[in-house]
Amino acid sequence: MDLPDISSIKSPSRPEIFEFAGIPMISYFTKNWEKLKNFQARPDDILIATYPKAGTTWVSYILDLLYFGKVDPNGQSSLPIYMRVPFLESCFPGMPSGTELADNLPNSPRLIKTHLPVQLVPKSFWEQNSRVVYVARNAKDNVVSYFHSDRMNHGQPEPGDWNTFLEDFLKGEVVFGSWFDHVCGWWEKKKTYPNLHYMLYEDMAKDINGEVESLCTFLKLSRSDEEKNKIINSVQFDAMKQNKMTNYSTIPTMDFKISPFMRKGKVGDWKNHFTLAQNEQFDEVYKQKMKNTTLNFRTKI
Ligand code: A3P
Repeated sequence: MDLPDISSIKSPSRPEIFEFAGIPMISYFTKNWEKLKNFQARPDDILIATYPKAGTTWVSYILDLLYFGKVDPNGQSSLPIYMRVPFLESCFPGMPSGTELADNLPNSPRLIKTHLPVQLVPKSFWEQNSRVVYVARNAKDNVVSYFHSDRMNHGQPEPGDWNTFLEDFLKGEVVFGSWFDHVCGWWEKKKTYPNLHYMLYEDMAKDINGEVESLCTFLKLSRSDEEKNKIINSVQFDAMKQNKMTNYSTIPTMDFKISPFMRKGKVGDWKNHFTLAQNEQFDEVYKQKMKNTTLNFRTKI
């Protein structure tokens, strides 16, 4: 498929949120629903699933390099990450839809990204027993990152001020719905679907070598220490921030004067945003919503 020239795309107008299939959505993610529902997954597909701003691009780039970095360093890797790892449910004006991009990917395995809650994933992924890599990020940093991203990304609804966005997040009234339902829903799925590898952003931040190693084990990939070291260097925050193929600077709909896509890449940045009262309220809601799950963000944050 010819690559579209997206440099001339104007920022879309800020979309409105509405309820769709039980979750808050925007039209850019629902317009293509019939095709999405009937999307044909393949047994060797790798679905990268995350709540928005949990480290999707980071793990996408790791997987991209693990599979294709060596084979075709100047071919695949010279395309922006959002072309190499299609965003399945996306359907933005002037861009090929996620399903179209995925259908036309020349490589195998296909790496495909989604932010859908587990119950809305096209059923062919389960039927084909495709592999899934899920990344969760601690709720407090996740909401901060989501807030800044919505400020700069005109493809998302206007976030309002920080207080408003935090309230909306806690109520699950942001695009793709409740963080709690998302991370817990995928965690439950893991119990009945062994082909799901569940990762934490915080573990990647603490021990990227160990996390790359366990990805290799899950994917039954054998890579030399030299190859792994090269990958680990390429996926450091600063390296990805400088890399035009991973820093989203080629997307004209994001306003980098407001905030970069690769913003801070830190664990614990929430402390620079939450007031004491907000933190207490958050902890209360968190305790309540997470009381029935065994999912545990072990890292001290
Ligand atoms: P911050 O806004 O906290 O900086 P996604 O790719 O799911 O949209 O997530 C984006 C978040 O992941 C941003 O968080 C971004 O900086 C962070 N991120 C991306 N690549 C990273 C890397 N190599 N190391 C650490 N954080 C990274």
